[in-house]
Amino acid sequence: MNQLKKADSYIEKNKVTKDQKPAFHVTAPVGWINDPNGFSEYRNKYHLFYQHHPYSDAWGPMHWGHCTSCDFIKWEDLPEALAPDESFDKNGCFSGSALETEEGHALVYTGVIEKDENGKKSVFQNQCLAFGNGENYIKYDGNPVIDGNQLPESFSREDFRDPKIWFDDGSYYLVAGNRKGDGLGQVVLFRSPDLKSWQYVTVLAENDGTYGTMWECPDFFELGDQHVLIVSPQDMRAVGNKYYNGNHVLYFLGQYNKTNCQFDYSEGVMLDFGADFYAAQTLLTNDGRRIMIAWMQSWDINIKPAEQRWNGMMTVPRELSLINGHLYQRPVRELENYLVNPIHYQNTKISGEVSLPGIKGRVLDLSAEVLSGDFKKLSIHIAHNEEYTTCFTYNPEEQSIEFDRTYSGMRRDVVSQRKMKIDNPQSTLKLRIILDKYSAELFINDGYQTFSATFYTPLEADEIVFKCDGKAILNIEKSDIRI
Ligand code: FRU
Repeated sequence: MNQLKKADSYIEKNKVTKDQKPAFHVTAPVGWINDPNGFSEYRNKYHLFYQHHPYSDAWGPMHWGHCTSCDFIKWEDLPEALAPDESFDKNGCFSGSALETEEGHALVYTGVIEKDENGKKSVFQNQCLAFGNGENYIKYDGNPVIDGNQLPESFSREDFRDPKIWFDDGSYYLVAGNRKGDGLGQVVLFRSPDLKSWQYVTVLAENDGTYGTMWECPDFFELGDQHVLIVSPQDMRAVGNKYYNGNHVLYFLGQYNKTNCQFDYSEGVMLDFGADFYAAQTLLTNDGRRIMIAWMQSWDINIKPAEQRWNGMMTVPRELSLINGHLYQRPVRELENYLVNPIHYQNTKISGEVSLPGIKGRVLDLSAEVLSGDFKKLSIHIAHNEEYTTCFTYNPEEQSIEFDRTYSGMRRDVVSQRKMKIDNPQSTLKLRIILDKYSAELFINDGYQTFSATFYTPLEADEIVFKCDGKAILNIEKSDIRI
């Protein structure tokens, strides 16, 4: 049996029932997932592929899983799209991207091969191409379409991965993560007339040592009057209250000169401040929106219960916008079509411990505006009952928000608290939490900053409790999300 059929029949026999999974966040039918791949629109549907190891809940030989949606919220699983079954990708079909073309749905991905040379294992990462009809994909027989040897001499052939493609003014372009001679990361740019033959153009951006080591999963696009480069650096070191995850996602804003392909960019900014956010990728919808999705997990921390047979999920897709030189994120507007049972509380006083009638659940959209108050700490507890709790705590003096999942039911000795600084303090702090059983995504001040995190608390812990050590006046709104 070929590798794709083998994966599909394994998935069919072992897939986890929907009630055991998040209601609308993408997960694998069974097994491990990491990076989102091939996030694209093709024949009026949104396609999302992902790094998938169906056979266990751990990373393994990488396949591309696949699902589609008409609205970014309801996803349908499709057959596995790619398996590591050819000489040019036998050790893994690593991350990549997709585009609608005249020859079909084009997937560009990294084919990994390991060679034993004089008793020493060497790894080579090259870029490969496949075409499909939105369901079945055939690898191009001229693969790889970019061989690492096309890079300048001193650039790594071992770390050369995660191509993101786009089409502009008659040419295809691709950025990929790479390691330069000193071992630090960089983003390299290639150009092609036809997706099959590619020329190296330039280094689009490079790491001077400020931002970790290798840079993975680049994405590059125009937004408003600027260009945005997203990268996922490895081995970040915490500085102040930034970069506390070893693997972070950063964005750089700047001006791109299309004639000489030079990108003049300013400093890196954290894209999400949570414990679980990596390898973000975007697409441009036909109606002109730039939508981003990311893997909502961390490489170093795995807190899911051992008996759970799916591991890893994606964030809610988020619309990006650039306002006064800052990247804002908000959940895709399509989510609003699924909001039911709205409840509003106006000018509500929170003092001590307060639960509000109707405000409970594990799949919901909750907003709180802190209008005024006199307090040191104000917390919102979610996935709460007498045994469990997970909370976000606002400290106005520090202008910080602290997340704590210590009592979420974790059985691992891993990071359970994270504290972030609010970068644009406002007289009215606005918080919006999207809860989907095992995750919370916090959007602060209309998406100026976000914080994404997972927790695997048993579902019976469905209370929401507000706590304040003084007095706070809040507007609170909640809707259930019904898919
Ligand atoms: C990022 C990453 C990519 C690679 C993939 C392998 O999370 O390391 O660079 O293509 O995961 O699964």
